Amino acid sequence: MNQDLPALALGADHGGFRLKNVLVEWLRARGHTVLDMGTDGPGSVDYPDIAHPTCQAVIDGRVRFGVLVCGTGLGMSYAANRHPEIRCAMVSEATSARLARMHNNANMLALGGRMIGEEMAIDILTTFLATEYEGGRHDRRIAKI
Ligand code: RB5
Repeated sequence: MNQDLPALALGADHGGFRLKNVLVEWLRARGHTVLDMGTDGPGSVDYPDIAHPTCQAVIDGRVRFGVLVCGTGLGMSYAANRHPEIRCAMVSEATSARLARMHNNANMLALGGRMIGEEMAIDILTTFLATEYEGGRHDRRIAKI
């Protein structure tokens, strides 16, 4: 385990577990500490039942970032953004992931497991993790959310 790398919690429903598992392995192979919040198979689960505990890991400070994957990413993002402490960016490409960090200080990503491929998801996650929040004028705007 590399203590310098941010820890992440990853959660998915049945529409996202395959992509979630790819990302868990990818992160662990690079030395990140990962909390795998499930689900681990194709059996149907309700995405809020996965989203909320994954958000709680971020809120509690057990991890710095969270990644949620459902079929579209949408349901997961709706559930996550009910938490005032969470800013969950539902993105399908890396530019939005970069700006979500720079401008919105996003602390979670929501991805569509039925919408994007593994390479795009890894590109998104790489960009998200490599980008720092800019602060400044964005602090005021985030406070108004
Ligand atoms: C599950 O069929 C699907 O509704 C879910 O994965 C997600 O896409 C909801 O937003």
